[in-house]
Amino acid sequence: MLDEQFNFTEVRRKVISWENLTYEIPAGGSCFGERKQKTVLKNVSGVALPGELTAVMGPTGCGKSTLLNALAGRLHKVGVLSGEVLVNGALRADDFYGYSAYSLQDDALFGNLTVRETFWVVSHLRLPAGTSRQQRQSAVEELIKMMGLSGAADTYIGSSMRRGVSGGERKRAAIAVELISNPCILFLDEPTSGLDSFQAQSVLEALRGLAEMGRTVVIVIHQPRSSIFQMFDRLCVLSQGRALYMGVAAKSADHFAQIGFPCPQNFNTADFILDLVSIDSRTPESEANTAERVEKLARHFEEQSRDKMNNVEVQVEQPASQPPPKGRSIGTRRPGFFRQFGVLFWRSLRQNARNHVPNAITLVQSVLIAVLLGLIYQDIEMNQTGIKDRLGVLFFVTINTSMSAVFTIIQVFPAEKGIVSRERDSQTYSVAAYFASKYISEMPFKIFGPIVNGIILYWAVGLNPAAEAFFFFLLLLATLGLCAAAIGLAVGAWCPTQEVTFAVAPLIMIVFMLFGGFFIKVESLPTGSEWVAYLSPMLWGFVGVTTNDLRGLDGWECEPAASSNTSSAPGEQEDCNLVRECSTTGENILEKELDFAKYTRWEALMYLVLVGAGVLFVGYLGLVVTGNRYQPLSQERRFPRILSSRSRVAAGRS
Ligand SMILES: Nc1ncnc2c1ncn2[C@@H]1O[C@H](COP(=O)(O)OP(=O)(O)O)[C@@H](O)[C@H]1O
Ligand SMILES: [Mg+2]
Repeated sequence: MLDEQFNFTEVRRKVISWENLTYEIPAGGSCFGERKQKTVLKNVSGVALPGELTAVMGPTGCGKSTLLNALAGRLHKVGVLSGEVLVNGALRADDFYGYSAYSLQDDALFGNLTVRETFWVVSHLRLPAGTSRQQRQSAVEELIKMMGLSGAADTYIGSSMRRGVSGGERKRAAIAVELISNPCILFLDEPTSGLDSFQAQSVLEALRGLAEMGRTVVIVIHQPRSSIFQMFDRLCVLSQGRALYMGVAAKSADHFAQIGFPCPQNFNTADFILDLVSIDSRTPESEANTAERVEKLARHFEEQSRDKMNNVEVQVEQPASQPPPKGRSIGTRRPGFFRQFGVLFWRSLRQNARNHVPNAITLVQSVLIAVLLGLIYQDIEMNQTGIKDRLGVLFFVTINTSMSAVFTIIQVFPAEKGIVSRERDSQTYSVAAYFASKYISEMPFKIFGPIVNGIILYWAVGLNPAAEAFFFFLLLLATLGLCAAAIGLAVGAWCPTQEVTFAVAPLIMIVFMLFGGFFIKVESLPTGSEWVAYLSPMLWGFVGVTTNDLRGLDGWECEPAASSNTSSAPGEQEDCNLVRECSTTGENILEKELDFAKYTRWEALMYLVLVGAGVLFVGYLGLVVTGNRYQPLSQERRFPRILSSRSRVAAGRS
């Protein structure tokens, strides 16, 4: 059994039908008045059959994606959905996500992985735990072959930073990723958008192939060319949330002709239908005319729909008589935490390590900033002015290390979060496995910049010459980088978009900087606000680098003016004050200038680790809480079940 090859051609057959789907969302409305409702879908019914390609068409904003999301169980909890979606005549249960797959317009793929590597990762995450290495390999190779990706298998997927596979190949790879668990229902939102017509054709041919194996394929498509339109078996036409046609695609032109709108000869039927059902709001008259036409088409279809639906029954095969597919005999237990962690860690490490340009920028920045600091702060003198300079450079290093770590994370994490939230939708792995692997794989990249920076600037500026102080300084900078990276992850996890993340992260860092113990001592902060300082990694980083550098570093001279005047009689009182304020030992500086004498460097390091751990936990919670929340798959019926008896017939159950 274990050497069994993967077979993607054996698929369970599932009829998906939907009845009276109505979706209402709260819409704008006045600030004080009652909240208005917008009806996005209105009493939409239909059916998609196994072995067929069903297309949903209609003008922009007519509710196509909403319908697809409702069918796929991925409709956000924004509005109220009523009506029913049935699979083989029964309400969907949670296992629906296991046997259906959903692919969005923008592909959730990592650009720095090759096509084969991408499939390798999903084969580890999505195939059951008992799958052998040989089976995984066979599944990956089978997918490559089935989606016509043999020529591109070892090419990078590609991103804005890296040239990769073609648009069509990328789309087919994204579809293939969803196929690894051999789903029998496929939902795709605009799989051809952004592709030229040749690439679009290649994607549709692949989808047709998948349908012909027995899958139920439902796609949303905006403007198909005629050769693509001819590939559709079934068509659902929407306008303004209402169904204007649901039936055999080849008969759609006849349907509209019967109502008095014949398609001109040699005209692309898809273009004709789209023109027919679009509202033309260029002038008030054209808007009224087209709205009236849509109303007429909708009413006509409503009257006819029952008869049309009944035609469906005759054509449906008896899915219940299908034998269960053999390929799944390895069980359905999901891979455990450690396998998930391992694979995700590998993926993240690869993704980061191959980010050559950003990595090179980090290296160059670290070197340049260190050299610049060295030039500015070389020969800091051991006197009272030198103290100010030394504290300045130490605080600058603290800021630079924290800021760089936060910004490099928030540049990439929000985009990655989008991919991850979709993978989570497919129940691919746990948040804990992802978050742990993400953070740990980031570590080398977040440590490397501060270490390079620290090594150069330490000697360029001439900080404490004791060897152990040097190594502790590097340890502190690395820990500070990791703590700041945790902040970047946490902010990214909680913020809904990259824009919000870019607004929030600098704000938080500036507050932490203000409370970092350099501009104002912690004891001078307004009562009740000290806790902000204690949460600031910059404070603990600064406490660490200063105690490490200054403790035991004595022999600070008082300013010549202050020391030479101590013996002269006039102004003696004044001079005494000056002498008393003059710090001559490192301990003095920590005490008087900073109020840090009460801490040791190890305590600072420990607090830094604690703050980092706390922030990581907050970030983890953020990912858990902000995961997609969808409408429940089955809910109380609000409308009488008019079509369900038909659906049962369709499913071969009655
Ligand atoms: N979560 C939402 N919040 C606000 N408006 C929404 C939401 N979902 C859908 N809509 C509105 O519903 C209509 C249909 O959206 P959609 O299904 O995405 O259309 P399309 O046919 O272009 O895919 C649009 O007018 C859109 O603005
Ligand atoms: Mg859409």
